[in-house]
Order: sequence, then structure tokens, then C-alpha cells
Amino acid sequence: MYALLFRLVFRRMDPERAHRLAFRWIRLAARVPVLRTYAAAVLAPRYPQLRTEALGLRMHGPFGLAAGFDKNAVAIDGMAMLGFDHVEIGTVTARPQPGNPPTRLFRLVRDRALINRMGFNNDGSAAVAARLGARRPVFRTAVGVNIGKTKAVPESEAVADYVTSAERLAPHADYLVVNVSSPNTPGLRDLQAVGHLRPLLTAVREAADRAVPDRRVPLLVKIAPDLADEDVDAVADLAVELGLDGIIATNTTVARDGLGLSSPPALTAETGGLSGAPLKERSLEVLRRLYARVGDRVTLVGVGGVQDAEDAWQRILAGATLVQGYSAFIYEGPFWCRALHKGLAARLAAGPYATLADAVGADVRKAATA
Ligand SMILES: Cc1cc2nc3c(=O)[nH]c(=O)nc-3n(C[C@H](O)[C@H](O)[C@H](O)COP(=O)(O)O)c2cc1C
Repeated sequence: MYALLFRLVFRRMDPERAHRLAFRWIRLAARVPVLRTYAAAVLAPRYPQLRTEALGLRMHGPFGLAAGFDKNAVAIDGMAMLGFDHVEIGTVTARPQPGNPPTRLFRLVRDRALINRMGFNNDGSAAVAARLGARRPVFRTAVGVNIGKTKAVPESEAVADYVTSAERLAPHADYLVVNVSSPNTPGLRDLQAVGHLRPLLTAVREAADRAVPDRRVPLLVKIAPDLADEDVDAVADLAVELGLDGIIATNTTVARDGLGLSSPPALTAETGGLSGAPLKERSLEVLRRLYARVGDRVTLVGVGGVQDAEDAWQRILAGATLVQGYSAFIYEGPFWCRALHKGLAARLAAGPYATLADAVGADVRKAATA
């Protein structure tokens, strides 16, 4: 049914308009008690064997919504209603900003991909913190808060900009993510170099501890798939050195590999970050590399090109304790999480692993001992 709705309605609309429309429906449904209870029962059935403990948090399962879908924390319950076991809001910047001028989101339908150059359009960390503070959660779901740099702030003041957001948002975050990997804020990805990243992560850690003295808010960094392998290793080593809680791999790519020939060249040539199916291979590769380096010392979150339960299972075997998705949700619709959970539970039951946690990184460990 969603496939028909997508073909007849969403596909004919401007992608950002379609996103806003679908978003409004989700938020509306989540506000009506009967509707949300029914929707959650159908779309988010729970499997006890998928219960996941990560980052000191207990979750119904390993699968969550990646950053960028709910940038302003307005639909957390709606997304939980659809079956996401955690919701990462943001990217939020210290100052509100409109993002890049439209058109800035493109669908590559045949490639099951998106290109976006949104540019961190968001309400700013003061407004989002107030919204999160006033929130009365309906569904129990972990809320990650992803922060980034305000575009107008020069790189020399980037640390202070992140610190401002961390201080405001850490009290409302189950975990905090430092995003240094979006391709749409000039210079942002340079912050992935260890020389920049060390002081940045140290300052954000201190800010979170200052803002929330009675709880250690887990801190993660989100990296790009376009990093060279040595740079992936360097971030992994830094994460261990700093006692970072997690790494999210990966953000969108500026590369255009993996695209079929079927998407119009005018579309594939759009600048921005490519997400969805063509990103799958590289994201998985980065994840494997990270797990081989950090093992269980750092929690890994696998994201990028996850289409179905098999993809999510492969991420877990490659070292991901948590898995996230975004682009495939646009194509698959509201039954996506349901199918994913069902498929994961089936794979766990069919495999040699007693628990989901036992499966984390199993492929990489096996390869190391072979
Ligand atoms: C339209 C759009 C906006 C995004 N915005 C953000 C963002 O603000 N912050 C962020 O860390 N990642 C953002 N992402 C990246 C996703 O969180 C995710 O890392 C990426 O899309 C790969 O996952 P996918 O292939 O499942 O979409 C965005 C992705 C899309 C498609």
C-alpha cells in the first residue's frame, strides 16, 4: 500500500514537501491516543530477544532513526510509534539557521538513494533544548542529540560553538553526538583530523559533565565514509584514548560510486551528500575496520545504506551494537521497522548466537582467527 502511495503521491511531489507532509501525518497520529496505541501495536511489535543494552541505556531493540529526519525534536514519539528503538534528533547548531536555499533534497528512486545539501536547517540549540525540556514522553525510547557547527561561525570558534550546544542539550540527551562529517557545512569535515578532533571532543566532554554533573552523558562522534582508511584508524585510536563512548559510521558520502546507470546524470551531479543503497558497501567497510581496531571498548553504531533486516544483521555481525537508517524509510514507509525487527529476530533464532550481544562483531572476530 505504501508503495502505491509513494508512486502516486510522494514521488510526484518535491521531496522536501513530501517529507513535511509525511512528517505532519506522523506527528498528528502520535497526538491521538487511540491512533498511536493502535499504530504502535501494529508497527512496533516488541521482540524480547532483541532487547539491547548500549551506552548504558536499555532499548527495545538495536534499530534507530538516524540524524537529520527529526532535526528539531518535534516528532520523537511519532518515530517511536513507527518502531524506531532510538531516535537521534538534530543536527542542532548553537544558532538557529535556515540551511541552504531550496531545492536541496533529491530522490534517486531507481538507486534507492537520496542526495541532500540541507545545510543543517534547524531551530538552534536554545529552542530545541526548551522543546526537549518541555516534552512529556508517551513512548519509552532513547533520545540521541546530534550537534554540529553553526555555518556563520568561523572554524577558529568551532569548539566554542559546539560547547554552547552541548551545555544546552546534554541535560536532555540520552546520548550526545558530535557531528563532524556532514558535507554541507564548509570546512566541517576538516574537524575529523585528529589534531582538531581531540580538543573538540575533550571540550564537549567537559561541557556535558559541567551541564550534567550527576550523570555521565555518553558521547559519540559521527564520521564520514570518505575518510581514508588511515584516518578511520586514527579516529578509532583517538576514541579509545579519550574514553569516548561510541562512533557512528557513517554519514553521507560526497562520492558517487555505487550508483547505477539508471539515475539521470543531472540528478547524480547535484552537490551534496549521497545516502541510501549506494552507500552500503563503504559504510560496512568502515564499520568493520573500526571494530577490528576498537573491539568492545567503544560502542559502534552502523548507519549508511541499510535497506532491510539482512543489512541490519550484517552491521551487527560487523561490530555494530546499534544500527540506524534514514533513506530506506522514505522508500519503504511505515512498515519498515516492523519488517526489520521481524527479520532480525528470525536471523538471531536461526544462528548460533544465544543473544544479540553475542552476534556483535562475530564476523570480524571470526576473520581475525581464521
Ligand atoms: C535529508 C537528509 C538529511 C540528513 N541530515 C543529517 C544531519 O543533520 N546530521 C547528521 O548527522 N546526519 C544527517 N543525515 C545523514 C543520516 O543521518 C545518515 O547518516 C545517512 O543518510 C546514511 O544513512 P542512510 O543511507 O540510511 O540514509 C541526513 C541524511 C539525509 C538523507
